[in-house]
Amino acid sequence: MSYQIAMAGKGGTGKTTIAALLIRYLVDTGRKPVLAVDADANANLNEMLGLVVHKVIGDARDEMKTKVPVGMTKETYMEMKVQEALVEADGFDLIVMGRPEGPGCYCYANTLLSKYLDILQRNYPYVVVDNEAGLEHLSRLNQKEVDLMIVVTDATKRGLLTAERVRDLVEELKIRVEDLKVIVNRCPEDVDRGFFAEELRRRGLELAGVVPADPQVAEFDLKGRPVMELPRESPAVAALYEIMDRVLDGR
Ligand SMILES: Nc1ncnc2c1ncn2[C@@H]1O[C@H](COP(=O)(O)OP(=O)(O)O)[C@@H](O)[C@H]1O
Ligand SMILES: [Mg+2]
Repeated sequence: MSYQIAMAGKGGTGKTTIAALLIRYLVDTGRKPVLAVDADANANLNEMLGLVVHKVIGDARDEMKTKVPVGMTKETYMEMKVQEALVEADGFDLIVMGRPEGPGCYCYANTLLSKYLDILQRNYPYVVVDNEAGLEHLSRLNQKEVDLMIVVTDATKRGLLTAERVRDLVEELKIRVEDLKVIVNRCPEDVDRGFFAEELRRRGLELAGVVPADPQVAEFDLKGRPVMELPRESPAVAALYEIMDRVLDGR
């Protein structure tokens, strides 16, 4: 069974950045191959990973209605489309879900998609899903069971409240999450880190660790350079590696 990791948190907190660094970490520590799933409609995980994507899964859903060749079953067609959408890289593969479904009924297409994504995932010891800010779609298609949910927040009171809301939403939507941990990202130097640990604990949440604000991360993003190319010793990379060493200790 693959170990399923899901990213969550409000927009702009660094979910995609942390997801990309996490994928790099997993590959570096030999936990590969990793399946990276971009489940954000405004997909940009590929850029952070330095990959070009030509096909997204969402299109297959539409095309299944009109473009299945004569003599081919919808099952075979969907399986083929999932394979086509898979981008292979060094130590990991990426699949992009793409835009959400349009109006109309996609139940059958979604059932087929779910089935092939399940089959696909079996080939990978680790799966990392980058999600959009809302969690509603989690219960629908991608991940029914999550081993580790990483809630990314900024170093603000509002960020803490959002983290709490994510946890509540997980319970409400009955998403099965084995372990939920919070990463405070882009944390300024002068912020009291103990304060966040304590505030989270009070709310029944666990702090995995703090990733500092790292000018090089922002600079790379601005220049469209993948986070894979950040120096291993840059503060954000070093911090995330240290966090994941602890979180995945013994795995
Ligand atoms: N630790 C960090 N230090 C500096 N900038 C960061 C850090 N983490 C993320 N950023 C920047 O913040 C912006 C939003 O990050 P992103 O990962 O796209 O957030 P999200 O996926 O949650 O919307 C990007 O420009 C990214 O480069
Ligand atoms: Mg994102």
